[in-house]
Amino acid sequence: MRKKSNLIRPSEITSESNYLNRRDFIRAGAIAGGSLIAPSALSAIVPDSRLATLPGVSKSAYSTDEAPNSFEDISTYNNFYEFGLRKEDPVVNAEDFKPRPWTIEISGHAEKTGTFDFDDFMQPFDLEERIYRMRCVEAWSMVIPWVGISLADVVKHFQPTSKAQYVAFETLNDRAQMPGLRGRSLDWPYREGLTIAEATNPLPILAVGIYGKVIPNQNGAPIRLVVPWKYGFKGIKSIVKIHFSSTRPKTSWNMAAPNEYGFYANVNPGVNHPRWSQARERRIGGSIFASKQETLMFNGYGDEVAHLYKDLNLRRNF
Ligand code: MTE
Repeated sequence: MRKKSNLIRPSEITSESNYLNRRDFIRAGAIAGGSLIAPSALSAIVPDSRLATLPGVSKSAYSTDEAPNSFEDISTYNNFYEFGLRKEDPVVNAEDFKPRPWTIEISGHAEKTGTFDFDDFMQPFDLEERIYRMRCVEAWSMVIPWVGISLADVVKHFQPTSKAQYVAFETLNDRAQMPGLRGRSLDWPYREGLTIAEATNPLPILAVGIYGKVIPNQNGAPIRLVVPWKYGFKGIKSIVKIHFSSTRPKTSWNMAAPNEYGFYANVNPGVNHPRWSQARERRIGGSIFASKQETLMFNGYGDEVAHLYKDLNLRRNF
């Protein structure tokens, strides 16, 4: 049974001024006034309160004009195995999850490394809304109005050295807060990775919001990866570690079933999952009688990313 309390619709959300703490408020004021700091010098502010409005969000030219899914679809139909295996589990089991205090450790082949408090980590970057088509490996899709920071900006900020060929990510591994960690569905912590070329492409973001509000716990609070041309399992949630590696990192689903889930995980209607077709997809939220739509190569983002794979056999490197 779903607890009602976590099913808040955007229209029911109390105004953000009731949520922002004093420090957020002062920083948000600097944005609203606009006189103190030039817009390009603004820092990304993520209020420390559930579903608060994110201030200073600009629109992105990378957004699709397809209709977004409802806030309810996006926040109640989730994959987040740390909070249970069923789609309806995370909204219930992540309700008491605490996305603060939060630190992010940056390690490996980079000039700048260390452990950063979440606010300090976010500070150099700008918040953008990116409305992206998302395609899950389970052959369903959604359109999600994310708010986030450019992963390319983050990577460049920490100045990876020439030895850094990959960027690896890890999720929090806290049994006290994540009941799913007691099960052995995956080898915890959840891990994902990208090549450095993928991570510095303009499309991937680290998302901190949905529909202009702080990201719900079940969607990966306080910060998660979004890579719109790859299957959804690449979008690792609740990130605590970012590592610049010279070798290809181990990734959770590839470790669990290497014949089913590859490192690249590019959306590809021409390469089926061993147990089902990837040619079509069901858009969540539509009528159950609606016919499925065709899946697009690279989820429709080929113009931006196809060049990354021009020398790669995508049937072998799935
Ligand atoms: N990240 C962690 N830590 N644990 C998970 O189980 N599931 C992945 C991905 N990130 C997962 C995760 C899968 S399979 C999908 S499809 C997306 O999260 C779903 O993201 P959403 O629930 O925000 O739509």
